[in-house]
Amino acid sequence: MSVPPLSVVGMDVFGVDIGGSGIKGAPVDLKRGELTEERFKILTPKPATPDAVADSVREVVANFGWSGPVGVTFPGVVVDGTTCTAANVAEEWVGVDAAGLLGERLDSPVTVLNDADAAGLAELHYGAARGRRGTVVVLTFGTGIGSAVFTDGKLVPNTELGHLELQGHDAETRASTRAKDEEDLSWQRWARRVQRYLAHVEKLFTPELFVIGGGVSRKADKFLPLIEGVSAEILPAQLQNNAGIVGAAMAAGAAWPGPAAAA
Ligand code: BGC
Repeated sequence: MSVPPLSVVGMDVFGVDIGGSGIKGAPVDLKRGELTEERFKILTPKPATPDAVADSVREVVANFGWSGPVGVTFPGVVVDGTTCTAANVAEEWVGVDAAGLLGERLDSPVTVLNDADAAGLAELHYGAARGRRGTVVVLTFGTGIGSAVFTDGKLVPNTELGHLELQGHDAETRASTRAKDEEDLSWQRWARRVQRYLAHVEKLFTPELFVIGGGVSRKADKFLPLIEGVSAEILPAQLQNNAGIVGAAMAAGAAWPGPAAAA
């Protein structure tokens, strides 16, 4: 997946980001990669079953009276609109035609993609990795660790690098911000884990650039200076909490045949 076709640049597309704690969305101006209205957020239903989440996504979209293409992120592997894993959401998501389910519920064309892939697309086109060639790895630190790998601007989807094994553990259980909070780790101790994780990913991919995203990118000054021994450049994400919404809208824009074809 790469840049949206020219037919949609200049048009607004709606983006929704499904997260473990909140579901948020807003219309996005694809020319600038910016939200055109303040985003609207509701709490993720518990349990976060496909049916309950679909209702919440409808509520977010309806809040703007939106009709038209909608892009939606999902925190797991997504292949052709079907959700294939569910590490941090209800198990019922595995094998669901999420694009079909949401498309029916919203009565709009819906594109679904992995949340970190969406954030990565946004950072690559509008943010910290704008215009960067070569291998770029965007990592989102939150409840889990999400990854988006690009080579010369092209995304390799669903890389799931958060589940690499690190010192005998699933990496995200050690180095996510959830691990930091749950174990009450200092910035220093958490940064050491992140450093070990980045060094491991660097060995596998030799990227030129790491972009560190997720809510914690707002506090980059507290932990990025503590990370040593990684050769690649490391930059904090620029779109921060809006990257998922913007990337979702980009994906829907790229999948949309365009106003001319739709007319
Ligand atoms: C999931 C990924 C997701 C990441 C961030 C991981 O547990 O497996 O698909 O991108 O969390 O939400």
